[in-house]
Amino acid sequence: MSKKLENKVAIITGGARGMGASHAKRFVAEGAKVVITDILEKEGKAVADELGENALFIKHDVTKWDEWQNVVSTAESKFGPVNILVNNAGIGFVKLIEEITEEEYRKTVDINQVSVFLGMKAVVSSMKKTKNGSIVNISSVAGLLALPQYL
Ligand SMILES: NC(=O)c1ccc[n+]([C@@H]2O[C@H](COP(=O)([O-])OP(=O)(O)OC[C@H]3O[C@@H](n4cnc5c(N)ncnc54)[C@H](O)[C@@H]3O)[C@@H](O)[C@H]2O)c1
Repeated sequence: MSKKLENKVAIITGGARGMGASHAKRFVAEGAKVVITDILEKEGKAVADELGENALFIKHDVTKWDEWQNVVSTAESKFGPVNILVNNAGIGFVKLIEEITEEEYRKTVDINQVSVFLGMKAVVSSMKKTKNGSIVNISSVAGLLALPQYL
């Protein structure tokens, strides 16, 4: 049976653990070459090592534009133009609005939202090279429902 992601190059952010690591494993199993990025260097490298030659880990803070540029150019040099971006990195915590600080709120918006804009902006010229691209922005049911205390 043919694999669904043969000849595809993917970037998956927040891939050192949890859902991102799970996406990376399935993508490689489906034939993709995957660049896993995260701020967690040890865990991210371990996931890439487990996946072998079709995976590469790059330390990457998704809130930093210059680091996005490095991720896309390294992905291209190692595997070729990028076809898939999964904006998976994110944080969440439960706190009352009276308790949450402006700094915590701004940090959350930076990691969960601004990073998605930076990722799409960084990858689009690479995707245009093959006229082939898919971008998956992981969100949350918290964006659809009013959940008490959940930012
Ligand atoms: N698991 C759930 O039930 C659930 C529910 C709603 C939304 N989500 C969203 O799905 C995504 C994955 O969730 P998860 O449960 O696997 O979370 P997780 O915390 O296990 O994994 C998130 C990863 O993102 C990384 N990360 C955090 N800040 C980063 C930054 N600035 N730069 C790069 N990487 C960074 C973390 O180091 C971590 O490895 C997140 O965006 C999360 O908000 C998950």
